[in-house]
Amino acid sequence: MKKTVRDVDLKGKKVIVRCDFNVPMQDGKISDDTRITAALPTIQYLIETGAAVILMSHMGRPKGKANMEFTMAPVAERLKEYLKQDVKFVSSPVVVDDSVRAAAAELKPGEVMLLENVRFRKEETDNDPAFAKELASLAEVFVQDAFGTAHRAHASTAGIAAYLPCVSGFLIEKEVKFLGSAVEDPKRPFVAIMGGAKVGDKIPVIENLITKVDTLIIGGGMSYTFAKAQGLEIGKSILDADNVGLAGELLKKAEAAGVRMLLPVDVICADDFKNDAKKAAVDVDKIPADMMGMDIGPKTIELYKEALADAKTIVWNGPMGVFEMPNFAVGTRAVAEALAASDAITIIGGGDSAAAVEQFGLGDKMTHISTGGGASLEFLEGKELPGIAVIEDK
Ligand code: 3PG
Repeated sequence: MKKTVRDVDLKGKKVIVRCDFNVPMQDGKISDDTRITAALPTIQYLIETGAAVILMSHMGRPKGKANMEFTMAPVAERLKEYLKQDVKFVSSPVVVDDSVRAAAAELKPGEVMLLENVRFRKEETDNDPAFAKELASLAEVFVQDAFGTAHRAHASTAGIAAYLPCVSGFLIEKEVKFLGSAVEDPKRPFVAIMGGAKVGDKIPVIENLITKVDTLIIGGGMSYTFAKAQGLEIGKSILDADNVGLAGELLKKAEAAGVRMLLPVDVICADDFKNDAKKAAVDVDKIPADMMGMDIGPKTIELYKEALADAKTIVWNGPMGVFEMPNFAVGTRAVAEALAASDAITIIGGGDSAAAVEQFGLGDKMTHISTGGGASLEFLEGKELPGIAVIEDK
């Protein structure tokens, strides 16, 4: 068990908190602030406990240079609205300078400040010890709450823990509780649904889950690579050509492990990668040579719904089709609705499946939606994330 903010005395202490405020931006405005609201319980707890709270995060990939396109300023404004108190934003092109040090030194219990984008410094992604020490010098305790960035060994996520006591915030605690117990101690039957375009991205997760799940459902773009591995013709459907062999091996592994592996039996294919393309529902072994699979078909939806009906734990990562196009969102929506209606513990990996669930307005019907895309995948692979490894054990 990892120590959390509850396990240390933080009253009157200067606390530096790593959050993942890497929120999507559109025309200079935050288009989805889930990652900000997910960080609020920890921040509010620290304020109430009487800590002086120094927040830090990255935004985007500014490649180690100060680039105001990636400033944290909009996040500071949004935090002020939610916290209903001032958030001192001290924007420095080098993240930590004399003005930042002075502001941190003057920060009083219950007050909050936010640093500039830590990736304005190249040393951040290099996990440079000197930069980690600069960040650490602002505070007395490090609170790690950036689950979405916990798979990165960077100065602000991992290196800093060499210089300060490190405990986790509530978001990391929650993510580890749900993702961890789902995989290690699931209520059975345990069903995992894997989708998305590339098999290559999901192979380590599938390999880890194959020995743990009762049923593995495959959908989305990657299913055509499995179809190819079974010797089927897939027309113009997306193919991860480098991984056909691996897909075949995974099919064999599932069989050897006695795991039920479900693949689409029919698909919605289209003559072009467009929402208004000509489309048809065909059995998976009858995809026309000039068409591409864009969604799972109606028979597959029924098959998957049946497989989910008695599940007690469901982990879902990756859409069933091109859900961004309304005409090819039917399969992904059907799976989301099946999860929403289920009594099972439903865990949604971050990234596309989280976006899909929110797009369908079903977010509040799920047990847990991870704030980490890459991080939740690596967690489900069974890897120890560097940003979690540095948190002290109880
Ligand atoms: C994410 O959005 O997955 C995290 O914030 C990590 O961002 P990164 O992939 O740029 O490291």
